[in-house]
Amino acid sequence: MERTFLMIKPDGVQRGLVGEVIRRFEAKGFTLVGLKLMSVSKELAEQHYDVHRDKPFFKGLVDFITSSPVVAMVWEGDGVVAGARTVIGATNPLTADPGTIRGDFGLNIGRNLIHGSDAVETANREINLWFSESELVNWTPAM
Ligand code: CMP
Repeated sequence: MERTFLMIKPDGVQRGLVGEVIRRFEAKGFTLVGLKLMSVSKELAEQHYDVHRDKPFFKGLVDFITSSPVVAMVWEGDGVVAGARTVIGATNPLTADPGTIRGDFGLNIGRNLIHGSDAVETANREINLWFSESELVNWTPAM
């Protein structure tokens, strides 16, 4: 079954939107298989955002992600990588559709509330980076 990595960023946690964000993925029918509130080290943040290392916003991004706790999650379901990104909305909240998480709550591109893996390969890399196998729960909803 396909899995994706989602992270509620410091702005989502600070603004008390953790429950609202999780509710949307549950309502969509995806299955939560990993969940933890955590402080992010500089090393982990730099590894996670390695693809953006040469971008002008890289340092600010790492500083922000390490500034206060995040909620790291793994979700499972058919087509969950693309499906979760549909629920999340476009990277820039100012152009994200209403009804998406970023469209409804995001403030700007640097405060867009949540990260979601952009492809199945990326999801596998990010899940392995953020979670150990023992932190993930293999289960199937009864309905
Ligand atoms: P995320 O999905 O976490 O992946 C990379 C993040 O970089 C992205 O969400 C944005 O929060 C951030 N980002 C992308 N482009 C910019 C930008 N031009 N300025 C600031 N932050 C950016």
